[in-house]
Amino acid sequence: MIRLAKSVVDIKEAQALSGVILDDGYLGMGQEVRLFEDELKGFLGGRGAVICVNSGTAALHLAVMAVVKPGDEVLVPSFTFVASFQAITAAGAVPVACDIDPKTLLLDLKDAARRITRRTKVIMPVHYAGAVGDLKAVYSFARKYKLRVVEDAAHAFGTTYQGKKVGSFGDIACFSFDGIKNITSGEGGAVVTADKKVREFVKDARLLGVHKDTDKRFSGQRSWEFEVYHQGYRYHMSNLFAAIGRTQLKKMPKFSRSRQALASRYQKELGCVDGLDLTPMDLSVVVPHIFPILVKNGRRDGLRVFLAERGIESGIHYYPSHRLKFFSKPGVKCPRVDEVYAKVLSLPLHPDLTRVQQRTVIETVKEFLSHG
Ligand SMILES: Cc1ncc(COP(=O)(O)O)c(C=O)c1O
Repeated sequence: MIRLAKSVVDIKEAQALSGVILDDGYLGMGQEVRLFEDELKGFLGGRGAVICVNSGTAALHLAVMAVVKPGDEVLVPSFTFVASFQAITAAGAVPVACDIDPKTLLLDLKDAARRITRRTKVIMPVHYAGAVGDLKAVYSFARKYKLRVVEDAAHAFGTTYQGKKVGSFGDIACFSFDGIKNITSGEGGAVVTADKKVREFVKDARLLGVHKDTDKRFSGQRSWEFEVYHQGYRYHMSNLFAAIGRTQLKKMPKFSRSRQALASRYQKELGCVDGLDLTPMDLSVVVPHIFPILVKNGRRDGLRVFLAERGIESGIHYYPSHRLKFFSKPGVKCPRVDEVYAKVLSLPLHPDLTRVQQRTVIETVKEFLSHG
């Protein structure tokens, strides 16, 4: 079986875990989390604070919560993992499904502009596959309409934009470190922001709202008498997760090179194949999380079955969120999302994918498409 995605871990992560279990003995949130946050900050560079939580969804939830009031609207592409939408509703806000550019597969700002109302307070660009598109235009848009920006950067850990790492600039960025992301901490996520108010809110909100509990935990203490100013959740990261994350972060240069090399080989080999389109992705700056192709002529599902019969996993990222019962609204349409959804297929992409395996994937795709 050639896997679509996987956790790329070895003895080093196991040793890091055993270090926490046997040497430290405290598995909750403490020194390892503090170190992971510092090291992430060092990796990203820039002025932002990094606050680790136990999932990317939790990161988005708290980030949105920090900048909205109940009923505020958030512009978000329908073409995303359902986590983006769930995080918005969890924060008491309303996701406004937007259409995408059918080439970049990223949020279409012209379409987003048409969906603005006086309740619109946030825009959430989703860095699909790891690419950010014209992020400068997103920020100009946000300035024009006085919106906060919460970047769903779950796919974009390591990606650079205009010489800076995603998360090291801008308003608020949220990463995911779930099992198959560019780095994993087992499960986990992070909010990155230079906004002091947001930072303090998220730090408390991840620990049930207990004021300044982060500082206590990082100095090995507990908060016995404390204050709570707002709703909070049990979203903090554990030392166990952080130990895995710290080990993975050291491997990030290798992971990035590997993901970029694999994606670049796909681009080279599949770029001119009849019957499919690729999305433009500048692999000198993007660290791709997935490798989507657009299969034309109604043949996506046929190719998916053909691959599966030959032991090759593929994925469909993503089912349009505006079509889900919980999020659909009468009259809300995203025709380009629907169009792309019918064509999109993700090919295997992870640092453990061998050249021989990738060759098999490429040849199998070509074989299917060469037979009309
Ligand atoms: C686009 C996007 N946003 C948010 C998330 C949520 O991250 P997590 O799985 O860590 O909660 C994911 C995870 O797959 C994602 O792909």
